[in-house]
Amino acid sequence: MPEAKLHLSGVSKRFPVGRGASFEALRDISFEVAANEICVILGPSGCGKSTVLRMIAGLEEPSEGSLVLDGHPIEGPDRERGMVFQAYTSFDWLNVRGNVEYGMRINGVPAGERRERARHFIDLVHLSDFADAYPSQLSGGMKQRVAIARTLANDPSLLLMDEPFGALDAETRWHMQELLIEIARAQDTTIVMVTHDIEEAIFLADKIIFMSRNPGQVHDVIVPAFKNGKRITDKETVIAIDGYAALEQQIMRMMRAEGASGNKANE
Ligand SMILES: Nc1ncnc2c1ncn2[C@@H]1O[C@H](COP(=O)(O)OP(=O)(O)O)[C@@H](O)[C@H]1O
Ligand SMILES: [Mg+2]
Repeated sequence: MPEAKLHLSGVSKRFPVGRGASFEALRDISFEVAANEICVILGPSGCGKSTVLRMIAGLEEPSEGSLVLDGHPIEGPDRERGMVFQAYTSFDWLNVRGNVEYGMRINGVPAGERRERARHFIDLVHLSDFADAYPSQLSGGMKQRVAIARTLANDPSLLLMDEPFGALDAETRWHMQELLIEIARAQDTTIVMVTHDIEEAIFLADKIIFMSRNPGQVHDVIVPAFKNGKRITDKETVIAIDGYAALEQQIMRMMRAEGASGNKANE
């Protein structure tokens, strides 16, 4: 067995909530992500998905436990970990090429190489015809493709995505999911993605970390075995495979059970 690329072990998180009190957001989170894996963190709203991802990004410190990437503890943000958020984060005053080149310019990548890499990633997200367009001229899906290209252009060891397609309409979302599989295949990227969308998780994931809440914990690690270790780019094929429906039903039940416990906690 190869060493895992990313390793979370015994991670907990308490947020101070005033007068010395604290809120336990995460308890004893442990999981591993292998190199080139697409790992999806799935769970109901408020179970701590974003907090886990922010800790991997180094934007939040664990109260206990450790996070190790490529053999080194994660201590603060670093460009080896690139993050794509739900909200569009392009610079309005730069065109698509400028946005994709931005990080490389900051990091001192020479102009020629910058150009070439930007071209490659703009092509990868199918925006070659829009390289000179400004974000205001682009649709939501296209803006999110710019964000992905920009993040990948910095050559991160790990791509982190927090509900990246949450703001998109259903059809665009589905195309973006297919694009992400294409990218993972073309780039050998390791991806940790957060979603609360069951279909999205099953479609994209090599491995699903299902979280429960109050406090946030790893409830189950699910490998969608029906995919037979393959990544299939078109969604209508995936949903027709034997085993898809059963897995969706199993996860829907887990999600529903979470809803019930969540309501109880709020009474
Ligand atoms: N900075 C913070 N201070 C206090 N509580 C927080 C903070 N960030 C998140 N939380 C709480 O931690 C829990 C998990 O939040 P979050 O990670 O955003 O969940 P998810 O992304 O799964 O919806 C929520 O109850 C949220 O209110
Ligand atoms: Mg969240």
